[in-house]
Amino acid sequence: MTGRTAAVTGATGFLGTHLCERLLADGWAVRGLSRPSSDRGRLADSEVEWYVGDLFDGPTLRSLVDGADAVFHLAGVGLWSADPDTVVRVNRDGTANVLEACRDSDDVGRLVFTSTAGTRRPGNGDAFADEEDVADPIGAYQEGKAAAERLVDRYADGDDGGDAVTVHPTSVFGPGDESFTPQLLAMGLEPTMPAHLPGGLSIVGVDDVVDGIVRAYERGETGDHYILGGENLTYDRAVRRIADAANGSAMPARVRVPATAIRAAGPVAETVGAVTNRQVFPFNRDMARLATERLFYTSQKASEELGYEYRPLEAHLPETLEWYREEFMD
Ligand SMILES: NC(=O)c1ccc[n+]([C@@H]2O[C@H](COP(=O)([O-])OP(=O)(O)OC[C@H]3O[C@@H](n4cnc5c(N)ncnc54)[C@H](OP(=O)(O)O)[C@@H]3O)[C@@H](O)[C@H]2O)c1
Repeated sequence: MTGRTAAVTGATGFLGTHLCERLLADGWAVRGLSRPSSDRGRLADSEVEWYVGDLFDGPTLRSLVDGADAVFHLAGVGLWSADPDTVVRVNRDGTANVLEACRDSDDVGRLVFTSTAGTRRPGNGDAFADEEDVADPIGAYQEGKAAAERLVDRYADGDDGGDAVTVHPTSVFGPGDESFTPQLLAMGLEPTMPAHLPGGLSIVGVDDVVDGIVRAYERGETGDHYILGGENLTYDRAVRRIADAANGSAMPARVRVPATAIRAAGPVAETVGAVTNRQVFPFNRDMARLATERLFYTSQKASEELGYEYRPLEAHLPETLEWYREEFMD
């Protein structure tokens, strides 16, 4: 369908760039929020109409969302790039501001909020987490996202007719990502990266997540939450499959860091972080524990209700490896 207008926060980010490209290809008119400092990257010469400001600039947010058929709220920050107070403020209060702008408009369509699967964790003894497995937040990022989810739920449940759904991507893999993807690929490709983590995770290709976000807009139930996951893999398996797919041109990671060593690193990172006010992976002892666990997710609800599908890691590797080699290798 053409003739629809989308407002996208986080348009200049990894996921936002892929979403904008998909929406433009589908015939949407796309408005993107861009900070004065944002690097618009591949979208610089695109048809995106830019609204310059940030999540704390009410007038810009109001003009961004007013008259939009869809508001895709993706802007957020993680502990890689900001201190814990900023992380909570941007993820929670920034979302409150987007909702406020939507409330102020008498002509705005559905909001799709991109949270994280991290606000869910498998219950005791369960292999996978689903949407119902709401977990106690660990760290500022999960705290901010969990608080934002409550605000979005309230907007969708309220008397003022707000229409909103929340999606929960797992670990997103693909070209243009500056955090998770290069770390995972480095573990599989670089002989100088001999160690990897003992736990496991759900890895989802960026195009699959983008498709899930669009499907949540089109078919989601207002007020509902949808996990958008991919293959559940131990780090071991993921790293081996990356090395295999790269045709054995690199040594697979061999030495596994014992869980005890990673747990021990938690308190050290916590102390260093407190003293220097800088984040040092794995940030603190709770997150260190998480890095040793199998954080597996089921996307069954999104699959049944939205028609969401994900592809295996290998489907995303050729394009991602090409990007990685250009960006990070000689
Ligand atoms: N990548 C993943 O694995 C993953 C998994 C689960 C959930 N998510 C969520 O998905 C969303 C997008 O993630 P991503 O990986 O694309 O992150 P990203 O590449 O770091 O992009 C973040 C985006 O948010 C914008 N932003 C940050 N602070 C802002 C502020 N104060 N005002 C306005 N814009 C601001 C950034 O603008 P600049 O370009 O100016 O920095 C950028 O466009 C985030 O909410 C993230 O929490 C990501």
